[in-house]
Amino acid sequence: MPADHYQESTYGDAIADTYDDLYGTFLADPVQIKVLADLAGDGPAVEIGSGTGRVALPLARVGVPVVGIDASGEMTRQLHRSAVAEGLAVTAVEADAAAFTVADPVPLVYAVFNTFFLLADRDVQARFLAQAAKALGDGGALVLETFVPRPGRLPDGPHPGVFPADSTVVVKQRSTERVVLFAATNTPTARTFDYHEIVLADGAPVRMYPGRMLYLWPEEIDALAAAAGLRLAYRWGDWDATAYDPNAARKHISVYRR
Ligand SMILES: C[S@@+](CC[C@H](N)C(=O)[O-])C[C@H]1O[C@@H](n2cnc3c(N)ncnc32)[C@H](O)[C@@H]1O
Repeated sequence: MPADHYQESTYGDAIADTYDDLYGTFLADPVQIKVLADLAGDGPAVEIGSGTGRVALPLARVGVPVVGIDASGEMTRQLHRSAVAEGLAVTAVEADAAAFTVADPVPLVYAVFNTFFLLADRDVQARFLAQAAKALGDGGALVLETFVPRPGRLPDGPHPGVFPADSTVVVKQRSTERVVLFAATNTPTARTFDYHEIVLADGAPVRMYPGRMLYLWPEEIDALAAAAGLRLAYRWGDWDATAYDPNAARKHISVYRR
């Protein structure tokens, strides 16, 4: 699909049936689940961009009820099916991050694995932060996990490789029968990172999964959050509470409170 036809549900709807295959080895970190569970207490926790449940399902397995919000109907249906199959307290809701609401205040709203940047419009990012501020109860926390933009490399996550200033293609997976390529275009002036995951398998049609991120530096996220009435409580370089080093961190975990 051409990038100009890209909308909120494009990424999720296209990749839903293949997401677990492409990211299946990228399992949620137990330390991450413990951090989220501690912040959520009795819950419920609200995950924005819950996808197929890579994080929502393990969080529910440790006893935290989760409401998974996703703009993609395909992702929402998959999460619902998986939760029902395991009898987990996960409510999958198809909704846009910019407009999600909750019936009662919640202790935790989170968006991990660069999902905040996948809200690929500055207005959607701002409106999501405002909705999160409204959803949080007293003492509640908003947790964001995103890469730290750095020239010379790809965003952190399961895409190791070099990321030149403009465009690149890296081999993400390779076996005898199948190659997965990651083709990305970075436009620093617009702060957009457009990419396709391209699956080439012997004898099968080529599959293309487009994504678009609108990235920000951590301090810029803080300013957007402040405009929504959220202040930075603390920032880590990783889920194990590694100190955040602004000069070297590949990603950040930031916790905001009202
Ligand atoms: C990179 S996936 C992350 C899925 C899951 N959180 C994980 O860590 O594996 C991002 C998810 O965000 C969803 N998404 C993108 N834009 C959205 C929006 N505006 N509102 C809600 N969900 C959105 C996509 O459909 C996709 O399921």
